[in-house]
Amino acid sequence: MKKLLALLMTVSCMLTAQAQNGGYTPTPENLKARSEFRDSRFGIFLHWGLYSVFGQGEWYMTNANINHAEYAKVSEAFYPHRFDAAQWVAAIKASGARYICFTSRHHEGFSMWDTKQSDYNIMNTPYGKDVLRMLADECHRQDVKLHLYYSHLDWTSEDYPIGRTGRGTGREGRANWAEYYAFMNRQLTELLTNYGEIGAIWFDGVWDHDSDSVPFDWQLEEQYALIHRLQPACLVGNNHHQTPVDGEDIQIFERDVPGENKAGLSGQEISRLPLETCQTMNGMWGYKVVDQNYKSTAELIRLLVRTSAKGANLLLNVGPQPDGTLPATALSRLSEMGEWLAVNGSSIYGTEAGEVVVGDSIVSTRCGNVTYLHVLSDKVKRIEVPFTGKVKRVVAFSDKQRLEYRLRDGKLCIPEINIPEETIDYIIEIHKK
Ligand code: GLC
Repeated sequence: MKKLLALLMTVSCMLTAQAQNGGYTPTPENLKARSEFRDSRFGIFLHWGLYSVFGQGEWYMTNANINHAEYAKVSEAFYPHRFDAAQWVAAIKASGARYICFTSRHHEGFSMWDTKQSDYNIMNTPYGKDVLRMLADECHRQDVKLHLYYSHLDWTSEDYPIGRTGRGTGREGRANWAEYYAFMNRQLTELLTNYGEIGAIWFDGVWDHDSDSVPFDWQLEEQYALIHRLQPACLVGNNHHQTPVDGEDIQIFERDVPGENKAGLSGQEISRLPLETCQTMNGMWGYKVVDQNYKSTAELIRLLVRTSAKGANLLLNVGPQPDGTLPATALSRLSEMGEWLAVNGSSIYGTEAGEVVVGDSIVSTRCGNVTYLHVLSDKVKRIEVPFTGKVKRVVAFSDKQRLEYRLRDGKLCIPEINIPEETIDYIIEIHKK
C-alpha cells in the first residue's frame, strides 16, 4: 500500500511538473544532443533552392512580385551538374564547422528532396536527383551533423493561409490550413524517416502571421511532438524571433549575437536553451549574383569568437550557386576559418560564455578553471579587465609563455602585451585556482 501511495505521488509530481512545463519533457537522448550541439559552436547554413538559378536571393519571388506559376518554370532549368556532396561536406568539415543546416524547402515552396507530398520538387527538374539524399549520406559518412531548415511559410501553395509577405505571387487565397498542416507533417515525417539521423529541424516563417488581428495558431506543439516522436534526439528550433516556446530545444537569433539587436530581429529574452546565431557571409542567404560583399576572414572569425563568448553557436551561411558549387570566396573563407580553428579551436569548442567582457574588443570564453580572454584588436597594449577570483597563472595561448599580471581592486591587469600586427584574436589563458 505504502509503495502504491509513493508511486501515485511520484506520478502526480511528474504530471504537475509536466503541466508547469507545458507538457514537453525532453528525453535523455535529446538532452545529450543539446549538449553536443552546444559544444559544437560552429555550423554552416546552406540556402539552396530554385532561387539560386535567378541569382537574386531567396526572397526574389516576393520582392519582385513574380507569379508563382511563372516562377516555377525555372524548375525546368535546374540542372546543378557540378553538385558534389562529398566536396561540399569536406570543405565544410575542413572549416571546423561541426554541422550543416540545409534548406529542405524555403518560402518559395520547392522541395529539395524526393517528396511524395508535392510534385514541386527536385525529382521533377532536368537534374532529377535527390540532393538531400546525397548530402545526408555524405554528412553521415564524414561525421558532420545534418540539420534541416523547413519553412512554415509558402509563397506558392494555395493551401497556405496568406500572411503579410508574398502578397504579389498570385495565390488566390483559398487557404486550407488543415490540409497544409497535414502536408507539412507528412513532409516532416519523410524527412525524419528517410534520411537517417537529423540533428535538428530549423523552422522559419512563423513571423508571416505576426500582424494578424487574431493570433494565428500554428499548432506547433503537436508538430514538435511529432518530430520528437520520430527522432527524440532531433532538436527543434524556430526562427520566430521570440523567446522559445514549449517543445523547442534551441533558441535562434537572426543576424545578431544574443543580447545585441543591431539587425532589429533579436530583442527577445535569452533563454537557458542552447543558443544559435545565424548570419550571412555576404549580405544575402540565397545566392545573389551582385552580392560580392563578403565579410573578411578576420571579421568572420571575430564573429565566431564573439558568439562563443555569449555561449552561443554561429550558423554561418553560404549560398550555393546554380551549377551546384559553393562560391569561390566562400570556399576560401571556409578554409581560412578552418586553419584558424585548427590552432585555436580549444578556446572555442566545448566552452561556455566567459565572465569578462569589455565592449567588442575583449571578450572571453571559459572551460573548467581556464578563462580564455580573446583580444580582438591588435592595437591593445595593456589589459585591465574586471576580474574576481584567484589566479594561478596567466599565459599566452599561442606559446604558453607566462604573462606578468596584477590582481587589484577587482581588476586583472596585464601591464604589457605585444600583439603582432594583424592578429585576428590574441588569446590569453587565465588559469584560476
Ligand atoms: C529570414 C528570411 C529567410 C532566411 C532566414 C535565415 O527569416 O526570411 O530568407 O532563410 O531569415 O535566418
